[in-house]
Amino acid sequence: MTFKKRTNNCGQLRPENNGEKVVLNGWVAVVRDLGGLIFIDLRDRYGITQLVILPEFQAELAAKSAQLKQEFVIWASGEVRLRENPNPNIPTGLIEILIDEFEIINQAELPPFEISDSITTNEELRLRYRYLDLRRPVLQKFFITRNQAYQIVHQYYAENGFLEVETPVLMKSTPEGARDFLVPSRINKGRFYALPQSPQIFKQILMISGFDRYMQIVKCFRDEDLRSDRQPEFSQIDVEMSFIDRDDIMAVTEGLIERLWKEILNIDIQSPFLKMSYDEAMTRFGSDKPDLRFSLEISTITDIVKNSTFKVFADNIATAGTIGLINAKGCSNYSRKQLDELADYAKKYGAKGLAWIKFTENTVNSPIAKFLTQEEIENIKIAAGAENGDLLLIVSDTWTRAYTVLGALRLEIARQTGIYDTIKNNFSFHWVIDFPLLEFDQESGRYIAMHHPFTAPMDEDIPLLDTAPEKARAKAYDLVVNGSELGGGSIRIHTSDVQSKMFNLIGLSSEEADLKFGYLLNALKYGAPPHGGIALGLDRIIMTLGGTDNIRDVIAFPKTTSGLSLMDGSPSSVDDAQLEELGIRVVKSDK
Ligand code: AMO
Ligand code: AMP
Repeated sequence: MTFKKRTNNCGQLRPENNGEKVVLNGWVAVVRDLGGLIFIDLRDRYGITQLVILPEFQAELAAKSAQLKQEFVIWASGEVRLRENPNPNIPTGLIEILIDEFEIINQAELPPFEISDSITTNEELRLRYRYLDLRRPVLQKFFITRNQAYQIVHQYYAENGFLEVETPVLMKSTPEGARDFLVPSRINKGRFYALPQSPQIFKQILMISGFDRYMQIVKCFRDEDLRSDRQPEFSQIDVEMSFIDRDDIMAVTEGLIERLWKEILNIDIQSPFLKMSYDEAMTRFGSDKPDLRFSLEISTITDIVKNSTFKVFADNIATAGTIGLINAKGCSNYSRKQLDELADYAKKYGAKGLAWIKFTENTVNSPIAKFLTQEEIENIKIAAGAENGDLLLIVSDTWTRAYTVLGALRLEIARQTGIYDTIKNNFSFHWVIDFPLLEFDQESGRYIAMHHPFTAPMDEDIPLLDTAPEKARAKAYDLVVNGSELGGGSIRIHTSDVQSKMFNLIGLSSEEADLKFGYLLNALKYGAPPHGGIALGLDRIIMTLGGTDNIRDVIAFPKTTSGLSLMDGSPSSVDDAQLEELGIRVVKSDK
């Protein structure tokens, strides 16, 4: 077989190339034999070009083309000519190649699904044959965007004086938050490295080394429950700066977002972004990553019903709980079944129940109406800004749970009432700030750091660490877009004594803190500059830019939500000899 290298790609030729002799290489997308004409659509990552054979004059070529099947790899030579029936929908649609010669370079088995953007094939099959899936233009587009983003990110930070420094992939296991992926050491049997959940400690140590402005596009690994926006290995744009305050980090980050959106989507994003406190985000939108593209805000009615005889409310108020609602506008016609489904939905987020009030022409319909006075109902209606035709969904619970459930209901009602359809192409960037430093973890019966234990408390809240640590706020900030957390960061603790105190607060004894983080505590004693930083989820940025809510679309070889890589079959068992060498014995599970 001869092989002729392409002179052009399959997305390149235009009417101005009319008459040129060209060679194309690519994959056969479709062969259409119309009798008097044979069309072959040839595809590569740049596009599709139509090849044509005229059987009347090219009997031999026509006969040979009968061997061509979908996804065969071929080269073809011929002359560019203008099409008689142009296709204005594709960039090469005005021309075709009248071919004079072609060869099959490689054959292909019948693919298990069509290589086309419009298929509805289940994702499992697509992931098993990811190499075919990735031939589809709709997916290739995400990787072109991703590549653009890499270039812009590197250029932007370089222009701003940042150094890219690589940090280790094999490090000490110090799980805080998610579980670590462990790597056994053969040379040091019984000991393990961990894959980094983020380069957090290393980038802080780089500040102590004087690197001043660090960035890295870096893989992170977290053994956590997976969702549509979470993968066990994902990429961060990781940043750290010295001698700065929160506003410096925000300004640098906003500059990057502006640049990415301008260069990739030609959209102007206005900065500075809105800043909203955690408390405000929770009480108005029921989320620490609120979607601000629409209002549908929560109303708090604790005060209005504080004397209510309804036991659920009274008991909750007695324990300093919160009662809030959202107004599902125009939903007073919801059926019993729809309301039950909403109650089930609320329960998934921890609600104990869901009360509702329907306001219709002259009537108030509600399972809790009998417990409320006329005046209470009227005041609730005013607080909710309700009119006849509206449905109020009411939740009574602890502060955090009441708002979390209402936040989830807010999004669900937005879905059900079509609000999302009207805001699809908007981008609403903002910062959530003033997070609590700690949260109490019922399961382990101790405080855990809400961001991570290296985050500095607000200066004015430092005394609270001794008296009421749960009230202390952190110098932390999250970047949110359209209800998704794009990034998070903080100003760090830069003295060894405050860092030790923080470890103590989260339940580590001095010995444990030394064992796990002694190297950081030590480093902090050798002249640590004040510093802070942020990490942006690169995959989530590409999802937002590309308009997909499936993180697997923007990762070339992703894992399923059960952590499997269906193409290569990992994770897999390994040879006994390999385990022996590592000094590891596997406890067989029953599953
Ligand atoms: P954090 O844990 O908030 O902060 O992570 C930063 C950003 O990384 C993205 N992200 C993920 N993306 C995909 N899959 C995951 N499993 C996943 N987990 C996180 C999110 C998130 O906002 N070291 C700190 C940053 C700092 O303080 O500077 C950190 O890792 O977009
Ligand atoms: P009950 O008297 O427990 O049957 O509850 C009456 C109504 O209050 C039902 O519609 C329940 O779903 C609702 N309800 C129960 N617990 C709560 C709660 N914690 N918050 C809001 N509504 C609740």
